[in-house]
Amino acid sequence: MEIPVAGETLVMEGKMRDRFQELETRALKDLEAVRDAAGLERFRVTYLGKKGLVTSLMRQIGSLPADKRPEAGRQANLLKKKLTERFEALRRTLSLEAEKGTRRIDVTLPGRRPELGHIHPITQTLEEVCDIFQRMGFRVVKGPNIELDYYNFEALNIPKDHPARDMQDTFYISDTLLLRTHTSPMQVRVMESQQPPVSIIAPGKVYRRDSDVSHTPMFHQVEGLLVDKGVSFSHLKGTLTSFVHQMFGKETGVRFRPSFFPFTEPSAEVDIQCVLCRGTGCRTCGQTGWLEILGSGMVDPAVYGFVDYDPEVYTGFAFGMGIERIAMLKYGIDDIQMFYRNEMRFLRQF
Ligand code: DAH
Repeated sequence: MEIPVAGETLVMEGKMRDRFQELETRALKDLEAVRDAAGLERFRVTYLGKKGLVTSLMRQIGSLPADKRPEAGRQANLLKKKLTERFEALRRTLSLEAEKGTRRIDVTLPGRRPELGHIHPITQTLEEVCDIFQRMGFRVVKGPNIELDYYNFEALNIPKDHPARDMQDTFYISDTLLLRTHTSPMQVRVMESQQPPVSIIAPGKVYRRDSDVSHTPMFHQVEGLLVDKGVSFSHLKGTLTSFVHQMFGKETGVRFRPSFFPFTEPSAEVDIQCVLCRGTGCRTCGQTGWLEILGSGMVDPAVYGFVDYDPEVYTGFAFGMGIERIAMLKYGIDDIQMFYRNEMRFLRQF
């Protein structure tokens, strides 16, 4: 009984292999004749579909003896894979050709201009301010936006109970880390790393918990510091007056108004003549004819104590200005949020 069964198996196996071969030859020949999407679909249904010839041949594998099934299954899978690949390749070729046929190019149409990028007005203003001070001999330095409480407050002589340290105003990261609220910490970092003479400016982003028409939670400042032997308040006045004249025009009036900052003594705020009304009084300047643009002063000897400078030998001045405010005045913009709305119609004007 066993021999005929084995013989029968051999025959079945032989038949099966022939049928794979036959099917492959026939399928490839049919595929070669396909010229369009409809032909392609007919091929798919006939050979690869659920009721197609490949599938039905695969079903017959189940009737083979167990030990022959794996090899037959492998053959069937190879065949299916090969036909599927050829089918997909032809489909890609046909769809490319179809696309080519429908795409017409009108060579007389004018070309499309690529959109030109712009430098953001804040970056432009920042660069302009830095250029002016660089021409006067100041060197540009940059520092971390995530700052130690020590540099942002402590070493600038801002005591623990100072209102600027309030959680309402400062983004704290931990007890000792925060987002810097001004660029003044760069004064300390620079003095810590070198002895006088120093003359630096430090541009960058600063952060405060504030947001309305004149405040954004992130804005830009430029800090300045100059320390040497024999530096006096008149150097401060001369430097900042020259800056205002270069930035806003020679005819712009400048005044120094007494003020207070914990890290400068004496301190002064600098006002410029209102750029809109030219000093006669309007809404922007609150009828005063003047606009405040920066804080400044002579470096407080208490700060030298933190950085090992001898206050008996050296004196210096410092200043800090908000770039958004300067850009608003220069371009006559009355809403600071405009800078950060990413509105192309606004940005394109600069
Ligand atoms: N850091 C101050 C602020 O953000 C501005 C300032 C005032 C900077 C006086 C200075 C200075 O360097 O001397 O309001």
